[in-house]
Amino acid sequence: ALRRAGNVHWQHLDVDKAARARIKGQTPKVLWFTGLSGAGKSTIANLVDKRLHALGYHSFILDGDNVRHGLNRDLGFTDEDRVENIRRVAEVARLMADAGLIVLVSFISPFRAERRMARARFAQDEFVEIFVDVPLAVAEQRDVKGLYRKARAGQIPNFTGIDSPYEVPESPELHLDAGAHSPEELALQVLQALDLEKR
Ligand code: PPS
Repeated sequence: ALRRAGNVHWQHLDVDKAARARIKGQTPKVLWFTGLSGAGKSTIANLVDKRLHALGYHSFILDGDNVRHGLNRDLGFTDEDRVENIRRVAEVARLMADAGLIVLVSFISPFRAERRMARARFAQDEFVEIFVDVPLAVAEQRDVKGLYRKARAGQIPNFTGIDSPYEVPESPELHLDAGAHSPEELALQVLQALDLEKR
């Protein structure tokens, strides 16, 4: 249960988001990668980030595996914990966008309602939902981390796609066919679609 602090007021800050973004010469964005474990979210986000960095953009990656080691180390994979995981990540992404950054968010984020909640924290043209779409069979066959094998053996309860749902995005800004294309091709698609590949 969330405890709410009383008597907390909003502190006005003189340096605003637009000023922070202007000094970086960019428009803040949140690139929200969603998809099954093993779809390639983190690989693609990394490639996009590397290219953005090389072009002189100020970007940052929030990645499930990493954030779960720190900020969200108290959370597991029940529905409730995943919801809280995504809530916190959306808030952190918002702080980073307020700092003027291009934020790449790479979490399974399996529930539509939570992705909608995340989207609601941002301006309409700021939030870009990127569905990294791969057939479960392909992710399972790749099984880079060996987690699907363990999940099938009953060693990982609530594994997404096996015994925990993944709700397919209905209208993502970008829909990547990760069963048919390499991470390099998909990263380029993202950069081109967002008009970020030149500067
Ligand atoms: S979520 O659903 O958005 O809260 O998940 P996320 O924070 O992205 O964490 C997913 C990574 O955690 C590992 N892992 C699991 N995934 C799904 N289900 C279960 N039960 C689970 N247990 C551990 C897994 O390595 C995921 O990494 P990715 O990068 O997605 O493959």
